[in-house]
Amino acid sequence: MKKVRKAVIPAAGLGTRVLPATKAMPKEMLPIVDKPAIQYIVEEAAASGIEDILIITNRGKGLLEDHFDRAPELEARLAQDPDKAGILEEVVSISRLANIWYVRQKETLGLGHAVNRARNFIGNEPFAVLYGDDVILGGDPACGQLIRAYEKHGLGVVGVKEVSRAAIRKYSSLKVEPLEDNRFRCTDMIEKPQPGQEFSLYSILGRCVLPPEIFDILDRTPPGANNEIQLTDAMKELARGPGIVAVDFTGTRYDMGSKLGVMQAGVETALRHPEIGESFRAYLKELAATL
Ligand code: UTP
Repeated sequence: MKKVRKAVIPAAGLGTRVLPATKAMPKEMLPIVDKPAIQYIVEEAAASGIEDILIITNRGKGLLEDHFDRAPELEARLAQDPDKAGILEEVVSISRLANIWYVRQKETLGLGHAVNRARNFIGNEPFAVLYGDDVILGGDPACGQLIRAYEKHGLGVVGVKEVSRAAIRKYSSLKVEPLEDNRFRCTDMIEKPQPGQEFSLYSILGRCVLPPEIFDILDRTPPGANNEIQLTDAMKELARGPGIVAVDFTGTRYDMGSKLGVMQAGVETALRHPEIGESFRAYLKELAATL
C-alpha cells in the first residue's frame, strides 16, 4: 500500500462568519495568541509524517506564502539582539516545516471543488486533507491518527466527533457501526442534514485521508448544499461503495471559521502559554469575579 506523504489544506473559503476580520485576510491567518491557525495545521501535518503540502488559496495568497517563507530583513534584525535568539530560531523554523506549494481556486465553488484543484499535485497516491479553519490541538496529531487507520484498513478515513443535535445541521451526519477502539465503519453520510435526516450525531470535523479515486468522483459531483460542490457528497460514494473508516480522534478541535471558536482557541491556548499563561489566568479569575 502506498504511504500517505502528501496533504492538501483548503484555505480559499470566503470566511463570511468572521467578517470583517476576513475581508482582506484569509481566516486561516487568524492568530491563536501568537501563531496563525494555518501554522498549527502545517505543524500537525509535518508531525504526522507529511512531506509535501498543497495550500489551496485565493485572495490573501501573499500573506500565506510570506508566512512560510524566510524573512531576511526581520531575521537580520532579530540576530542583532541576543535576547531574541529564541524567537529568531522559531521564525526561521517556520520555513522548514515542510515543502509547501500553492494553487489558486479561481472561483469559490465549495470544499469539494477546492480539493479537486489538487489532482495534478497528488497524482495516484492517497493523501490527507486538513481543513484550513479547523485547528486540532492534542498530544497525538489528529492527521497521524487518520493515517494510521488508512494504513491498517486501506480505506478512505474521516476524522469525526459527536456534535449536538443543533450543530449537526451545519455539518455532516454519518451512518456508522463500531469497528475497533475509536474507529467506526461508515457506510453512508449526508451534508447539512435537515431535522430527521440525521444518521447519527457523528460529524466529519476537519480531517480526512482519501484515495486518489476521489478526483474522478469529484469531477462528476454536482453542486449540493448551499449550491457548493461538497466534499461530503463525493465521500458518500466511497462510503456506499468500498466503505470508509471514521476515527473519533483525540484532541480538541477549534472552529477558526466562527467567532466563538476563535475566542475559545485563544483563551485556552493563552492559559497554557509559557510566557503569558500565569498572568492571563490571574487576569481571567479577576475578570470572572466581576461577571
Ligand atoms: P467553510 O464552508 O467553513 O468555509 O469551508 P467558508 O466558505 O469560508 O465559510 P463561511 O463563509 O464562513 O461560512 C471549510 C474549509 O474549506 C475551505 C475553507 O477555506 C475552509 O478551510 N474552502 C471552502 C475552500 O477552500 N474553497 C471553497 O470554495 C469553500
